[in-house]
Amino acid sequence: MEPRGCGFLLLSLHILRAVAVLEGKIVISKLGDNATLSCIYPGKELSLNNLRVYWQIDDVQEQCSVVHALISGQDNESEQCIHFKNRTQLLWDRLGEGDFSLLLLNVSQSDERKYKCVVLQTNEYTRVVHQEKVALRLAASYSQPILSGPVTNSDSTGEVTFSCSSDNGYPEPNVYWINRTDNSRLLPSELSITLHVDGTYSVLSTLKVKATSDMQIECFIENKRLQENISANYTHEKQNNDSNTESHKDLEKGGRGAQAAGIISIVILLALLTVLICWLWKHRSSKLVSYTDVQTNEDNRKLNSPV
Ligand SMILES: *[C@@H]1O[C@H](CO)[C@@H](O)[C@H](O)[C@H]1NC(C)=O
Ligand SMILES: *[C@@H]1O[C@H](CO)[C@@H](O)[C@H](O)[C@H]1NC(C)=O
Ligand SMILES: *[C@@H]1O[C@H](CO)[C@@H](O)[C@H](O)[C@H]1NC(C)=O
Ligand SMILES: *[C@@H]1O[C@H](CO)[C@@H](O)[C@H](O)[C@H]1NC(C)=O
Ligand SMILES: *[C@@H]1O[C@H](CO)[C@@H](O)[C@H](O)[C@H]1NC(C)=O
Ligand SMILES: *[C@@H]1O[C@H](CO)[C@@H](O)[C@H](O)[C@H]1NC(C)=O
Ligand SMILES: *[C@@H]1O[C@H](CO)[C@@H](O)[C@H](O)[C@H]1NC(C)=O
Ligand SMILES: *[C@@H]1O[C@H](CO)[C@@H](O)[C@H](O)[C@H]1NC(C)=O
Repeated sequence: MEPRGCGFLLLSLHILRAVAVLEGKIVISKLGDNATLSCIYPGKELSLNNLRVYWQIDDVQEQCSVVHALISGQDNESEQCIHFKNRTQLLWDRLGEGDFSLLLLNVSQSDERKYKCVVLQTNEYTRVVHQEKVALRLAASYSQPILSGPVTNSDSTGEVTFSCSSDNGYPEPNVYWINRTDNSRLLPSELSITLHVDGTYSVLSTLKVKATSDMQIECFIENKRLQENISANYTHEKQNNDSNTESHKDLEKGGRGAQAAGIISIVILLALLTVLICWLWKHRSSKLVSYTDVQTNEDNRKLNSPV
């Protein structure tokens, strides 16, 4: 009984491994990076002259499927699809070891496909000696989320709204809101994900909660593909000795300083104005004086002159 059970187990392991090989590997690459699609032919006695290596898109529906071709040890661009022109390289120093891995430069979402590497031997007759499949998946990190709020809702329900936003990521993220007081999950009231022309996503999530004097909230943006989870915090505690209130105080201090500076400059301005007005006034009075002097002189002359 036992040996047969083991044999069955071994057999299923073999089947599993075969399935894995057929399914192929998955390569995750960031947008704009160079991706390496691996293809290693384990055969010995390799003569590049008798080999043809085709990298192609693994989809029979595809109009143009040739990504890269190596014929008799030379790159052959005659059948290469325009989409891949100048964007593919084989690793030249490794070809002799049967390593036909392909470097695909500057990847974008349109490269997110399944690829197949086919190695053909062309002796008396042509036959496939090796085949490998690789799926390329793209990814991009989300930016540090910005958590804003709380904004008091106008509908007098005593609720406040927080919002959390992040950009430039791929693929679509998961958003989590956590109550840091008891680490429970809070459900967002809205989640909008926008796709941009460059193929990346922006996310905006809003959370409505009952306002309390003690709120500690964290928003997470998770990129599952990259195993990244970035977060932003909101903390407000009622105690005065909390660091957050401390910064409020600093702001207040700063505010008072600015106020004082404002008052002082107004006082100085007023003083300057007073001085100016006094000076102008004096100047004008002295002019008046000289004018009266002239008049008196003239009057005197008139008086003195014989009529
Ligand atoms: C991709 O490869 C090209 C050519 O080899 C190189 O110039 C470029 O810096 C690489 N880009 C990255 C992001 O590594
Ligand atoms: C590319 O391959 C074609 C046949 O598939 C051949 O006619 C042509 O000469 C080759 N070009 C080069 C540069 O090897
Ligand atoms: C590939 O590069 C060559 C030379 O650098 C250039 O003439 C050609 O326009 C490029 N092709 C594409 C499709 O970018
Ligand atoms: C990479 O590809 C994008 C389009 O997908 C293009 O706008 C950009 O100029 C390319 N960068 C390089 C270094 O070739
Ligand atoms: C967070 O958890 C604490 C403790 O369970 C609770 O008192 C508080 O109301 C929660 N805050 C929110 C916004 O749900
Ligand atoms: C990211 O954080 C959330 C909330 O704490 C958690 O549920 C999720 O499992 C985390 N994901 C990863 C990849 O760590
Ligand atoms: C948010 O606060 C928690 C503790 O309250 C801390 O563990 C976490 O690292 C903080 N996250 C950020 C992004 O500051
Ligand atoms: C604030 O300070 C008081 C005494 O100085 C202390 O008992 C209390 O635990 C502090 N609260 C916090 C939130 O740090």
